[in-house]
Parts: sequence; C-alpha cells; structure tokens
Amino acid sequence: MDAVAQIAAYESDALAALAAAASADDLEAVRIKFLGKKQGRLKDLQTLIGKVPADERPAIGKRFNEVKDRVTAACEVRQSELLKPRQSAGAIDVTLPGLPLRLGGVHPLTQTIQEFRDVMARLGFSVADGPEVEDEWHNFEALNIPADHPARDPLENFYVAAAEALAGGPRLLRSQTSTVQIRVMERTRPPVRIVSLGRVYRPDAIDATHSCMFHQMEGLMVDRGVTMAHLKTVLRQFATAYLGDSVEIRFRPSFFPFTEPSVEFDMRWRDRWLEVGGAGMVDPNVLGAVGYDPEVYTGFAFGLGIERFCMQRYGVTDIRNFYESDVRFLRQFA
Ligand code: DAH
Repeated sequence: MDAVAQIAAYESDALAALAAAASADDLEAVRIKFLGKKQGRLKDLQTLIGKVPADERPAIGKRFNEVKDRVTAACEVRQSELLKPRQSAGAIDVTLPGLPLRLGGVHPLTQTIQEFRDVMARLGFSVADGPEVEDEWHNFEALNIPADHPARDPLENFYVAAAEALAGGPRLLRSQTSTVQIRVMERTRPPVRIVSLGRVYRPDAIDATHSCMFHQMEGLMVDRGVTMAHLKTVLRQFATAYLGDSVEIRFRPSFFPFTEPSVEFDMRWRDRWLEVGGAGMVDPNVLGAVGYDPEVYTGFAFGLGIERFCMQRYGVTDIRNFYESDVRFLRQFA
C-alpha cells in the first residue's frame, strides 16, 4: 500500500473507532491508538512518510496534516458528546439527585370527622350511617315536618328526578343528618346512643360561609329517664375533649319540628361564642313515628356543622377551600 492509501485507511479506521466508542474510557483508548504521539497508528504513518521520496513528501505531508486535524477534531466532538448529560427521550440519568417524594395527607374535614368519632366513642356513642339520597319520610315526615312546612319547598331542596323514577316516589339529597335518627330507631330498640357524620345538601347561594353541600354530626340518645341535663353534659364533654378544658357551653331557646323543647347551642372558645348547632329533647311525635312509647322513653338529639368547627380551629376563612382540592390549602393539614 502506498502512503496515500495508508493515510486514507488511517482516517477511515480512526473515524469508525471514534464513532464506536461508547464511553469515556473507550474513547481514551481510541485516542491513544490513533492520535498517541509516542506510538500507534499516527506514529507509524509519520515513519512511513519519512521514507517517501523527497519530491513527493510536501504533498503527502500536507495530506497527512489535514487528516490528522480531522481525526483530532472528530475525537473532541465525540468527547463532548460522551460527557454531555443524556437528555434523549426515555433515558434516565441515575446520577441525578432524586426528586423529593411528596406524600398526600388526610383531608382536614376527614381528620375532624375522625376526631369527632373518637371523642363520641369515648362517651359511649357508636357510629351509624344512612343514605344521601333519601325519601320524604326519613327527611321530613317522621321528623315531624309536615307537607306544608316551608322546609319542604322544592326550591329549598335538591329533589332527584332520576331517583324518583327508579324508586317510585319522590327522592331528594338529604338536607340534614337527622334522617339517620329515624333510620336507627326504626331498626333498633332503646337504649340508643349513636352519632352519624356525613354530607348534607341545600341549594344555598354559595359564599365564604355557605356551600350547597356540607357536613353535619348528628347525635341521638334515647333511654328511660334521659333529660336535658344529659344533653348538656354530653355536649360539654364533647366540647372539652375537642377544644380544651376552658370551654363553656350555653343554650338559647329555639324551635325545631323534631325536638321539644329545642335549643341552639354555642361554645365559648378563645373568648368568642361559636354558634355550633341545634339540639333538644326528641319530640314525642318522632318517638311515636318509629314505634317507641313516649310515655316510657325520652331522648335528646343534636346536630352540628362540622366545617364550622374545622374553620374555627384552623382559622379557615372561606368554606370553599375545603372542596377545591387546592394542594396549597390542603398541604397545611398534611
Ligand atoms: N337538623 C338540624 C339542621 O340541619 C339540626 C338539628 C337541630 C339536629 C336539632 C338535631 C336537633 O338533631 O335536635 O339545622
């Protein structure tokens, strides 16, 4: 092979080896083999060129230098390619630090519900549930709310036309958890001591303190000799357990169709009275509706808004925060 062919072979071998180098170590071996100054293919070529006739040497030497420059440049390009972080789709750079794993948390309302259940369990109340799509008997009638009562106005409730067709009678999203009182008393005999925590629905205009869906905790205790004193004691113990020993509670006279007498009750916390819910002694008509003898049994019932507690405790000023799933809000409770 003459010198020109040797130079051409050197170039194509070097470029192929550079392209095939898959790591920095590979590349270094190729560099030493093709560009090493003391020995290797470059050195061999130089020796060969030294032997060509003097008149051919300038042209061959020029060609040699061009090829050497091209191989050197190709080597540098390959070097920077191999050092560059791999960004091609699907490639994972295992040397990068990992992203912190962000764990979810329990929703603040769920936390409150769990805490309420625990407190009430310690007072001897078990948990009962009822459906969110209700009939008029459980939402109204059995609770002593007659057909002409303003609370039954279709504009004040979410009636569900599709459910009505299926069930063969009017159905609505329950407007209160008091429905569960009826469901429990219908299937059990006294003594009864339950709480029920869940969603209720009302077509209220939505603002910072109103939502068309919110949560209530209903309580019911029925036995022989249950009085208003039991009601007040249970509510005070509940308030103390949740808000601390310094809590006071007060009753204000009120009216509900399903209790007689009825009260609104407030709890004093951080030097303010919080309006918390309604309560009273279960109306004899309600006891009668579920087949309990009002001459033998008495009971108390109460219903309170869960969001309100949670808002007070954590300083939440807009009820809509609870339902919007904005992690910037939820993260505070994780
Ligand atoms: N159901 C009532 C409401 O949603 C709250 C309530 C008041 C529940 C008195 C009761 C009660 O059990 O005795 O406004």
